[in-house]
Amino acid sequence: MNIKAIILAGGKATRLLPLTEKTPKSLVPVLNTPFLDHVLLALKSYGIEDVTIACGHLSTSLQEHYAENNLDLNISFTYEESPLGTGGAVVNAWDKQTQTILVLNGDIFSDINIADLLAFHQKSQSQITFSLVTLEDPSHYGVLEIDINGRVLSFTEKPKLEEAKSNLINAGIYIMETSVLQMVTADKFTSFEQDIFPILLANGAPIFGFKSNAYWIDIGKPQDYKQLNFDLLNGKVCTFAPRPRGIYNTEKQNIISDTAIIASTSQIKNSIIWKDVKVGNRAIVDDSVLCKHVQISADCYIKSSLLGQEVYVKEGHQVIEEKIDAGNVFS
Ligand code: GTP
Repeated sequence: MNIKAIILAGGKATRLLPLTEKTPKSLVPVLNTPFLDHVLLALKSYGIEDVTIACGHLSTSLQEHYAENNLDLNISFTYEESPLGTGGAVVNAWDKQTQTILVLNGDIFSDINIADLLAFHQKSQSQITFSLVTLEDPSHYGVLEIDINGRVLSFTEKPKLEEAKSNLINAGIYIMETSVLQMVTADKFTSFEQDIFPILLANGAPIFGFKSNAYWIDIGKPQDYKQLNFDLLNGKVCTFAPRPRGIYNTEKQNIISDTAIIASTSQIKNSIIWKDVKVGNRAIVDDSVLCKHVQISADCYIKSSLLGQEVYVKEGHQVIEEKIDAGNVFS
């Protein structure tokens, strides 16, 4: 597919803290594989090989990761000192030659069919074609109303639930003619959702939405990050199968890095354990995420908690429903 992709990965990822204190949201492990690897491999499966990642916060680790492992793609990076917003980031990452680009929010996992989306975009001669998914509560996203042909009638960013005009949301994967980018000033914070889409619609620009029933999840919140891991572990609808890595346990619902050292007398369930974690004798870890280098000593009880990188829990302690910042010692 002859189209370039721009992935927005420069946000601060505050809702996913403490998991994103030291690791960019794009690299949080999903099935023990950095999240964005799944997205890039999906793009590759459509023949999309030119990808620019628009990054900012924690960009160094992102660049280092893909310098070592470029998945046989042409990956380039742009960097924002402070976030430029979705519009500013895309203009910054646009090579000024390409006419049609695929834009993806870097925290969406979906098996939306990109080839069908592009075909629909071309057939409709659209300026922007959004992929749309249906949510019961669409109030945290851009809500779109479309007519019978898919033409967008209204776009409302994060409406109150009772004011949402439909259940269709902007899935964060859209195709855009770069003529639209003339409306965006370079190096200035611009939000497509707040500053550009409403004006385009008011001017009667051809903007379309392409409905999909595909699997879709936004990993921006801890419960959704966990949900994606467990959905994939349990083989929930997804047309591309991520590569298995590390240790899985479907019976106990665990996803454990193969570099973690877990005492055989410990009990772990419903948990995601990142690289180089140590869990001591008789410790119990339930419904929790332990980031890189976390150390849980013997006889600890960790329940429904998120432990940031290098957190150290001393012997016999309980951590229940806590979010603990990186580097803390819990004693
Ligand atoms: P929160 O702080 O938890 O809201 O997360 P976030 O900063 O990632 O914001 P949000 O979830 O709204 O962003 C959706 C996607 O767009 C993520 O992949 C972000 O990295 C990306 N993004 C958001 N704002 C910017 C920006 O200003 N520049 C770039 N390059 N990417 C952005």
